[in-house]
Amino acid sequence: MIDLDQSSLAEIGEMIALANQIRNYPKEYCESCRGKIMATLFYEPSTRTKMSFQTAMLRLGGEIIGFDNPQSSSVSKGESLKDTVTVVSGYADILVVRHPLEGAAEAAAMYSRVPVINAGDGGHLHPTQTLTDLVTLYNEKGRLDNLCIGLCGDLKYGRTVHSLIKTMTRYHNNSFVLISTPELALPNYVKDIMNAAGCKYVEVSSLSEAMPMLDVLYMTRIQQERFATREQYEAQKGVYVLDREKLNMGKRDLKVLHPLPRVDEITPDVDEDPRAAYFKQTVYGMYARMALIFSMLMNPQYKRKKPPTQSSHPVECSNPKCITKTESYLPRLYFETGDMLECKYCDGRTLI
Ligand code: NCD
Repeated sequence: MIDLDQSSLAEIGEMIALANQIRNYPKEYCESCRGKIMATLFYEPSTRTKMSFQTAMLRLGGEIIGFDNPQSSSVSKGESLKDTVTVVSGYADILVVRHPLEGAAEAAAMYSRVPVINAGDGGHLHPTQTLTDLVTLYNEKGRLDNLCIGLCGDLKYGRTVHSLIKTMTRYHNNSFVLISTPELALPNYVKDIMNAAGCKYVEVSSLSEAMPMLDVLYMTRIQQERFATREQYEAQKGVYVLDREKLNMGKRDLKVLHPLPRVDEITPDVDEDPRAAYFKQTVYGMYARMALIFSMLMNPQYKRKKPPTQSSHPVECSNPKCITKTESYLPRLYFETGDMLECKYCDGRTLI
């Protein structure tokens, strides 16, 4: 599970239904992964994603191994991603990988003998957060289509935003309000996906202006760790803050989501409002991950679809945060789109 676009909408619908089934009847699933081992390879900090994966596996009756600090593993001795994955996939039945570089999960899946789940690859994608968001929207809004979705904050580096938009463009008549500074605007490749799907979107810089239009507001943290310099981060932090006053400009049935962690972009007095759905979202996330692990381990039908034809080129990917920059043994693989090469790992575009 590298990207949700490998699943059809029917399959995603089944996954949401399974998450709700497990939520309603947890006892029926508490032994379903008995004897199976999940390894979490976290090369980057995480609280929710790691713990929700771990509790998900434990609640299915399985066992967990892994590291959350590469300094305490052989990675600190210079071991490649390929070698770590080759070895650990001999110990575990499923791998969950989080990495600061873009395309790392795709690369890991090339060398793993067992299924790999992408738990976030740099500023690129975060499909299990999207599954979490879908379960939340389905239960809290009652639908996944005909929604006006505002996304606010770090739209440039926010992998949760990229994955969510990619998936929501596939449902009927969703539109997007992109609320950010010009410096943190959505990458062009995600805008191209919205355009290709015929989705309406507007880019605005004011949260107050956007509030009355929205059915859903997806707030995000300005991610200090993704900026090249401290000064660049300082210039962006604290620009967008959702407080009670702004919330009251929103619709009565608005739902506010946030992948968390929050820093200062939502004031704590918003938490008590029935429109705040972000803490419930974390619980939905655990059931979403239980459904995913269960499907990948227990359902022989669950197979990754063959990716479209890719070709090997000697050129280097132009994205400095691509996994091929540090894992030099990786074959350089691209999809050809006109006069551009699109990197198979990170979606970065390079002129031929
Ligand atoms: C997000 C992430 O790591 O991408 N959090 C999460 O997975 N729940 C967002 C963030 O770190 O700001």
